[in-house]
Amino acid sequence: MTKTEPLFHVVPYDAKIHASAVYAIEKECFEPENRWVWEEFRSVFRDNPVFVAVRLGTAVGFILSWEEGKEAHIAHLGVTEKARGLGVGTTLMAKAENYWRERGKRCLTLNVLVDNSAQIMYYELDFRVYGFRKHPEPSNCAVKMRKTLY
Ligand SMILES: CC(C)(COP(=O)(O)OP(=O)(O)OC[C@H]1O[C@@H](n2cnc3c(N)ncnc32)[C@H](O)[C@@H]1OP(=O)(O)O)[C@@H](O)C(=O)NCCC(=O)NCCS
Repeated sequence: MTKTEPLFHVVPYDAKIHASAVYAIEKECFEPENRWVWEEFRSVFRDNPVFVAVRLGTAVGFILSWEEGKEAHIAHLGVTEKARGLGVGTTLMAKAENYWRERGKRCLTLNVLVDNSAQIMYYELDFRVYGFRKHPEPSNCAVKMRKTLY
């Protein structure tokens, strides 16, 4: 009997292994005004919890989150176009949720641009809208969502 290999697995971010591949995903997924320049990226990703999804030896997605007082915040979630629809995004979300639940955080928040249909995924993961971020550029307005962890 042959054992079925999982489509991907999730590992903690290691800058020495993942930095350039994860930065490439960041560039693929986010417009220049919504992503970090390389130097900022390196320090933000070094100083906060990041999980990386690996498929066939290649990074295909990541999630970056950080502590915000009594809560935790999902700062960036990105999956390469080719690997979308395989459950990578939801698996990374679950990983971040568990990470913060284990550290006693009661609530997880995120911001998602108003025209980003990823809101549907977040809603299905039990995130709910609690506010909006205004911006002079309409496409930069965001929906604020949160989920109670326990
Ligand atoms: C959003 C994103 C991370 C989802 O990753 P993914 O690996 O494709 O997500 P999953 O495969 O786990 O999808 C889970 C479910 O959510 C739905 N979903 C995921 N992304 C969605 C989107 N952009 N719009 C609508 N529904 C979406 C899927 O249809 C799927 O539902 P189904 O299984 O019932 O069909 C990915 O599309 C991405 O990187 N987008 C660009 C960057 C981005 O917008 N990040 C979020 C910024 S807040």
